[in-house]
Amino acid sequence: MKGIVLAGGTGSRLFPTTRGVSKHLLPVYDKPMVYYPLSVLMLAGVREVLLVCAPDDLAAFRRLLGTGAQWGMALDYAVQQQPQGLAHALALAADFCAGEAVWLVLGDNVFYGAGLSGVLQQAAAQTDGATVFAKQVADPQRFGVVAFDADGAPCTLQEKPANPVSDWAVAGLYCYDPNAVRWAQTLPLSARGEREITDLNRLYLARGKLRVCRLGRGFVWLDAGTPESLHRASDFVRTVQHAEQRLIACLEEIAWRQGWLTRAQLAQAAARHANTAYGAYLAQLAQGKSPS
Ligand code: G1P
Repeated sequence: MKGIVLAGGTGSRLFPTTRGVSKHLLPVYDKPMVYYPLSVLMLAGVREVLLVCAPDDLAAFRRLLGTGAQWGMALDYAVQQQPQGLAHALALAADFCAGEAVWLVLGDNVFYGAGLSGVLQQAAAQTDGATVFAKQVADPQRFGVVAFDADGAPCTLQEKPANPVSDWAVAGLYCYDPNAVRWAQTLPLSARGEREITDLNRLYLARGKLRVCRLGRGFVWLDAGTPESLHRASDFVRTVQHAEQRLIACLEEIAWRQGWLTRAQLAQAAARHANTAYGAYLAQLAQGKSPS
């Protein structure tokens, strides 16, 4: 199984902040935003990841994330010349996916909840069709929206509707069978000139192959694409980390728990982050002093 992090686009909703830097490199409290979606792929068990970004940001992403070897992973990069939509970015990844199933996650989405890994692994275990994740929100017109029929099966998908058919927003996390890449290449451009991920999901829906995993109470989904939501995401991470005495999206910790890093490698990572709370946390883990 492969994974794609979409970290392209211009970040225009965060201008002027993002005129000089990709929004996905901005901090969500104590670590770069892109760490959060990357952590989700890692929790799903994905070790081979392609990061799609704008040409100007490639060098900075490489500097931050490198080859992924520091997490026992293989990271690759693809450049999206113009922001042409999420499904276009997926189409770019055809060679990388090489006929395998693929996870797609948006670089500004944060997920949190006890049992998240289990939910992800369940989706990954399906070999046919697509799984998307939905959460009830107060402002569905900002998102993709899904409605359900009387039996609870998904029946309608809308993209940023003026009149949403429900308050279930489709989160920026998708698990696709190998058809997705090919189908994404054939999608027409939408009114805003993009290949929309919602159109791809509609192809699965029309074939009865779209599963919608509803994230209920206890699962938090935040996007961090506006000044207000970025600030709220930072607040959330700070508060939860303090209350739980554990870090969210600590990539070295996840890699170690997945068995991709040894304890000695964890200790080396702690040394590389000396003088930070992040490094102190890694050092504690490496010394076996953390909660299990
Ligand atoms: C995208 C998708 C939308 C989804 C949202 C989640 O919107 O098009 O369906 O609900 O991500 O963050 P964007 O944020 O790219 O406008």
